[in-house]
Amino acid sequence: MNTNLTQQSPTGDPITGWWTEAVIYQIYPRSFADSNGDGIGDLPGITARLDHLVELGIDAVWLSPFYPSPQADAGYDVADYRDVDPLFGQLPDADKLIGEAHSRGLRVIVDLVPNHTSSAHRWFTEALAAEPGSPARARYIFRDGNGPDGEQPPNDWQSVFGGPAWTRTVDPDGRPGQWYLHLFDTGQPDLNWDNPEVRTEFLDILRFWLDRGVDGFRVDVAHGLIKQADLADWQEPQEILSGNEGDRPRPPMWDQDGVHEIYREWRRVLDSYPGERVLVAEAWVEPVERLARYVRPDEMHQAFNFEYLLAAWSAPAQYAVITRSLEATDAVGAPTTWVLSNHDVVRHASRLGLPVGTPRPNGIGIGDPQPDAALGLRRARAATLLMLGLPGSAYLYQGEELGLPEHTTMPDEARQDPTWFRSGHTHRGRDGCRVPIPWEADSPSYGFGPTDASWLPQPTLWAEYALDRQRETPGSTYEMYRTALRLRREHELGRGTLRWRESGDEVLTFDNGGLTVLTNFGPAPVPLPAGAELLHSSAPLTDDGAVPTDVTVWFRG
Ligand code: GLC
Repeated sequence: MNTNLTQQSPTGDPITGWWTEAVIYQIYPRSFADSNGDGIGDLPGITARLDHLVELGIDAVWLSPFYPSPQADAGYDVADYRDVDPLFGQLPDADKLIGEAHSRGLRVIVDLVPNHTSSAHRWFTEALAAEPGSPARARYIFRDGNGPDGEQPPNDWQSVFGGPAWTRTVDPDGRPGQWYLHLFDTGQPDLNWDNPEVRTEFLDILRFWLDRGVDGFRVDVAHGLIKQADLADWQEPQEILSGNEGDRPRPPMWDQDGVHEIYREWRRVLDSYPGERVLVAEAWVEPVERLARYVRPDEMHQAFNFEYLLAAWSAPAQYAVITRSLEATDAVGAPTTWVLSNHDVVRHASRLGLPVGTPRPNGIGIGDPQPDAALGLRRARAATLLMLGLPGSAYLYQGEELGLPEHTTMPDEARQDPTWFRSGHTHRGRDGCRVPIPWEADSPSYGFGPTDASWLPQPTLWAEYALDRQRETPGSTYEMYRTALRLRREHELGRGTLRWRESGDEVLTFDNGGLTVLTNFGPAPVPLPAGAELLHSSAPLTDDGAVPTDVTVWFRG
């Protein structure tokens, strides 16, 4: 197999721009570093730890939301898009963080949540106080209920977190009123993107943060803004990933064609600013060809590649998803992205410790089948080296550079994700990947903050993963990441061209940027070619220099 997969536009010109090859590190502010000891991470905490990110060798950070919010969905319920929640600091702290990051050569991407506001947003308060049919209600999706007294929801849609996607309001006179749509929590009413006022407001929010110097936006639920006009029933369970393969019709709430014109308008705003500001789509859209529509030349710059994140740990599955991803983005002239973990999925060091083929779990807790931790970490390290050897841009999630596993035995009483409550305690949700990260093995809260407070409980095994145990420790996961990021930069792997050498059932080998990446998925060790110079490996080789099972190596020759 000899596919040449390069990062090229349809006209054949190379795609340029910092984002095309960037390694972007996701900071989940609640759980990164706590400066004031209240158990919740904050912006000054992040600023104080920026040198760690420089040492690690990343290019940019993406910050999950830090805006004023009732925290019904850990800040993805935004009450004011132009300020900072006191939990995380104040607006000058955001300015300082942006400035300090820039002075270290790091770019800053912030999270933008346009599909819904918080129910505490001024607009929603106004909508509840206003009449049905009023302009205030027209900013959201209010409808009369079905049934003689309107006691049934307007349609059968379910919330992504479980339970109905509609909540009935109470009129000012105390009588039951209209219903409003929320694809997520009741505290996250969906905006009506057919309303020009909503569009204008978000153009202004973009400018607010662009003026403060941010380098771009990660756009939350980018595939959800436009709903099919008739709000037709959808008899299927709700899933954020809108599979559209085969005969399955496209769900009426996801990936509607109308979303693209919104992003074209945003792109024009970004392009009117100096520097290269970027838009990144969080769009759970399948297949990748459909996802690629979000990154056409006049739309967003990048889209998360969730098909890659979801791919099974096997040579054929990885070969297929890598090839398809590169082909699909090449076809529209966009760089490909890669991601293995984020704040919504089980960390890959644990996910890959489940038997191959296990469907993606929505959280793991006490009583659930537990991952094999050693196997998971071994595969996670191999997966990471495979990913960082690919051309394109890669996303890392805070703590993965420490090899952090999911907290898979968190007491259920500690859980905060609305998924756990709205699913009637059937899905544990995402708290296990959001636990505050360990910096120092022997400090309170493992160095997360100055006290032992932590908004989610940290497992005792955090000590062995702490940064200070891994720094300068040969063979540690942290040093593996650092070396990989250094070599990736030196060999310009991000802007390279992938050429498959071998794509069998057990081994994948490809060339990129003057080096070769080999992952052994099979049961037997695989010898390196004669004379090969080993540059990096995710685990030690066998005594006679072969690549063992579940190991990735980078070599020359
Ligand atoms: C995105 C976020 C997730 C959030 C949801 C609703 O999927 O990544 O954390 O719950 O949107 O805003």
